[in-house]
Formats: sequence, structure tokens, C-alpha cells
Amino acid sequence: MSKEPIPIQRKVTAPGLRRRKESGEKFSVVTACDFPSARAAEEAGIDVLLVGDSLGMVELGYQNTLPVTMDEMVHHCRAVARGARRPLLVGDLPFLSYQVSPREAVANAGRFVKEGGMDAVKLEGAGGMLGAVRAILGAGIPVMGHVGLTPQSIHLLGGFRVQGKDRESARRILDDALALEEAGCFSVVLEAVPGRLAALVTSRLRIPTVGIGAGVACDAQVLVAHDLLGLLPGVTARFVKRYESLYERMTEAFSAYRADVESGAFPMPEHAYEMPDEEWEALEAELSDEETAPERRAAVRDRRGPRRP
Ligand code: KIV
Repeated sequence: MSKEPIPIQRKVTAPGLRRRKESGEKFSVVTACDFPSARAAEEAGIDVLLVGDSLGMVELGYQNTLPVTMDEMVHHCRAVARGARRPLLVGDLPFLSYQVSPREAVANAGRFVKEGGMDAVKLEGAGGMLGAVRAILGAGIPVMGHVGLTPQSIHLLGGFRVQGKDRESARRILDDALALEEAGCFSVVLEAVPGRLAALVTSRLRIPTVGIGAGVACDAQVLVAHDLLGLLPGVTARFVKRYESLYERMTEAFSAYRADVESGAFPMPEHAYEMPDEEWEALEAELSDEETAPERRAAVRDRRGPRRP
């Protein structure tokens, strides 16, 4: 692990992102769940790092995001917070950490800030969640909303499906986004909704919209780092753009390493440590003495005392 200090530039803040919308400046959001990706994203100038509960699927191998716990999220938040300082750090409240009561929502959002080093939290849905949003804001923690495809409700939605394709559901998404703004959210994620609905929502809100599978009109875009880096095999959602194929590159690197170990091509002298010649020669001389005179070996043993377990 590198120990160089991370340069502290101007910190991205929730009010600062609202001002960006006013000036028409788009910004990028990426999920991060570990120290190296947080560090690389910061170096790349990404403005917002979301420790998304999608880490349950892409990092921990769950089938969906529902099993993710607060403890798992806090663990990953801490790693991200150690890796990045300038971006706004947003922790994604996992399933059942805010739905039960506004009181629990505040306690869990507070854990993200106090233990996880996050600057803000995100939660899914509007309607019944507005009480939680207000309570968290009342504790002084900025909240990012999330409407459209809300993965914590997949069983209700019938799977990972595009939302807002008919007049009624499109209207609900618009009203939900407006309600989240009214409740005090500093931005709203629009996931898997038609581009023209996202454009309409974006034009009606004063806070920035963050699109994922929501077209180009949103004020910001978010992608799951594992998707954009190609860290997992298999097909991804239509809205993902892959900028790398790291799964293939990792597999190639592991194969090359295995082949080197098996053939003896690794490690080479430059990967090994040396011992000063005089120390080596002294050791050799001591061993050969002991071989020719066993009583000397006993004397050396006595001098050293009993062997440690
Ligand atoms: O968990 C996550 O990664 C998210 C983004 C897709 C917005 O919620």
C-alpha cells in the first residue's frame, strides 16, 4: 500500500452540486467499494463516489442487493473514505436500514457518517420514505434520492425492469422526484427510465438528476465501477458502457503468473533478497565446523538456550 499523502483539493459538497446544475455543468458519479478504486476515481477527477449497495452483488456475490447489511456497508465505506477525500462520498443505505422507522434511518445514516466517513447518504423510493429523508436531514446529513428502478423493491417491481414506460408510472416517477426535492434531497438518481421522462424530470427539478440508464439529459451520470471496468464476466445492462475489460486482463495476468511459478520463471533474482557475503560465509563455516565436530554443535545449542516453540 502506497503511503504518499492524498493531495486535498477543494472538497465537492452537496450544495456545490446544486450550484453546478444552475451553471449547467455536468458531473460524474461512480460507485466505489474499496481503497484502490476510490483512489483511482479521485485521481481521475470523479466528483462523487457512491458506496452503492450494488456492492452486495458485484463485490460480495449476492443474487441481489437485499441481503446487504449495515456492517458490510460500513466496512466498505471506511475503505473508500481512506482512499478519497476530494469527491463527495455518499453511502447507500441498505434494505431495511431506513424503511422501518425514521429513528432507525437517522441512526444508520449516522453510522455512515461517524463510522464510515461518508459525507451524505442515499436511499430508495419516495412516498413512505419521505419521513426518513426529513429525519436524516434533520440530523444534518445530506440525502440523495433514488427513483425509477429501485433494486431494493425488485420483488414488488417483478425484477430489474425499465420503469415509467406508461403515462401513469411516468407521472408517479415525476411526482416522486418532486417530492424528494421538496423534502430536501440534494439530488435524485433516476434509474432505468425512458430518456424523455428523465429529460422532463431534469427540467422540472432544481436539484441535479443523476442518471443510470436514463439518457443524456440528466445533470450527472452514474455507473457501477465493476460494469464500466468490465470486472466481471458476462453480459451487462444495455445502459452500461464498458471502458475496460479487466476481468479478461486479470485472468490473463493470473494465468501468466501461474505459468511462471510452474516453470520457475518467477521469482527472478531481482525479486529476491540478498545476504552479505561475509555473513553467508560465516554461516557456512559454522555449519561445516559443527559437522566435523558434533560436540561444537552441542556447545552452540547450549549457548542459545532452549528452542522457542
Ligand atoms: O447501488 C448502486 O450502485 C446504486 C447505483 C446504481 C445508483 O444505487
